[in-house]
Amino acid sequence: MHHFNYQHGKMFCENVPLDKIAAEIGTPFYCYSNETLMRHYKVFDDAFADVDHLVCFAVKANSNLGLLRELVKAGAGCDIVSGGELFRALKAGCDPKKIVYAGVGKTEEEIEYALNSNVLMFNVESTQELFALDTVAGRLRKKAGVALRVNPDVDPMTHPYISTGLKKNKFGIAIEKALEEYKLAAGLKNIEVIGIHQHIGSQITQVTPFVDAVEKLLAFVDQLNEAGIKIKYIDIGGGLGIPYKDESPPAPVELAKEIVPMLKKHNCTIVFEPGRLIVGNAGVLVTKVLYTKRTEAKGFYIVDAGMNDLVRPTLYQAHQAIQPVLEEVSKRSKSEVDVVGPICETGDFLAKDRILPEFKKGDLMAVMSAGAYGFTMSSNYNSRRRAAEVLVKGDRYHVVRDRETWDDLVRGERFAE
Ligand code: LLP
Repeated sequence: MHHFNYQHGKMFCENVPLDKIAAEIGTPFYCYSNETLMRHYKVFDDAFADVDHLVCFAVKANSNLGLLRELVKAGAGCDIVSGGELFRALKAGCDPKKIVYAGVGKTEEEIEYALNSNVLMFNVESTQELFALDTVAGRLRKKAGVALRVNPDVDPMTHPYISTGLKKNKFGIAIEKALEEYKLAAGLKNIEVIGIHQHIGSQITQVTPFVDAVEKLLAFVDQLNEAGIKIKYIDIGGGLGIPYKDESPPAPVELAKEIVPMLKKHNCTIVFEPGRLIVGNAGVLVTKVLYTKRTEAKGFYIVDAGMNDLVRPTLYQAHQAIQPVLEEVSKRSKSEVDVVGPICETGDFLAKDRILPEFKKGDLMAVMSAGAYGFTMSSNYNSRRRAAEVLVKGDRYHVVRDRETWDDLVRGERFAE
C-alpha cells in the first residue's frame, strides 16, 4: 500500500505530481510520501497492540532527519548502529529512552556518546564489547543497560548478504554460549542486564523463520529466568519484507497472530526494529532518461541516476519496479532493455533485461520501492553529487535534503603542499 498513483495521466505522490517536483528541483531525487510512512508505522504498531511494546525504527533504512522527525512525532523510537545514527535520532527529537543500539563494531567513542545520551539499551554482540562497555561505563560512573544479541541459527530464507541469524554470520552470540555470557554480564559492576536481542535478517517473506527464532529465543529466556537472570525487554529485531515484484510477505497482523500469543506469556516489553517495512514502499527515486541507444545485442536507457544513487540492483541483484511518470509512456510498444546509469562500471544498472515500454530522451522514470536502503546506501562515486530528498505531505512537498553542490564534494579536502 502506498500513495504513488496516476492522476490526470501523471504519477502523483499524494497530491503532488512528480513532474512538477522534477521541473522545480531537477533530477534525480528521492520522493517520500508522509501518508504512506505514517500508515505503515500505524499498521505495524496497531498489529502488536496486545503486548506492551516499543517500535524502534531501523534508522539505517532511511536516516533523513525530516522523515525521522515524522516517525518520532508518531511515537517511534530508533534502532541505531552507529554514533552518526545516534546523532540523527537525537536531532530528530527521539527520546533517548526509546533508542536501542546494536552493531558488532561499536567504538569506545561511540559507546561514550551513547552512555552520555542515556540510551535505553546496548545490544551487545561479543564478550570483548561487553568488557569495553563495562570499562567506559565505569569511567563515566554510569550503568549501561544491556541486552545480549543472540544468534539463534535460523535461516531467514533471504539474500545471503542480508541474512544475519545464521551460525556462519558475524552477528550476535551463539545461543548455546549465551547463558555463560549472561552470567558474565550480570557480574560486571557497570552493566545492568535488562534485555535480550535478536535480528535474523532482512526482506523476510515468510512467517516461519520468525516463529522458529522467537520460539528458540523464548526457550532461552526461560533458561535465563531459571538461572535467576530477569530481563525486561525482548527485542526481536526487524526484517519483515515488502513486495518489490511478486512477493507476498506476511502483513504485520499475520506475524502478530503467530507470535503475540507466545510473547504474551513473558511479562516483558517487546521491542521491534522494522526498517524496510515502514519506509520501503513510501519512497521512489525519480530519474530522467538522458539518452537511449541500441547495440547489436540490446537496448539501453541511460538515465541520470546510477548505482551511486541506488545500489540495491547491483549489490543484491534486487528487483526495483520501474514506472513512467507520464502514464501515456506505458502505452508505447515494449522491449527488453537495461536501464543504466552514467557510472563507468558495467555493474551500474537499475534494471537488467527488463521488459519496458519505449522511453524517449527526457522522459521521467519512477524507480519504485526505493524508500529503504536507497539514499542511505548512496555514495559520491564518480564524484557524483548525492540526490535531493523530498517529503510530500498532502498537496505540499518539502525538500528535506538539498542536492549536494560541487563544493560539498570537496568539503574537508586540501592540497598537501
Ligand atoms: N535491526 C537490525 C539489528 C538490523 O541489522 C536491521 C537491518 C534491521 C533491524 C532492520 O531490518 P529491516 O526491517 O529493514 O529488514 N541493505 C539491505 C538491507 C540490510 C539490512 C541490514 N540490517 C537491502 O537493501 O536489502
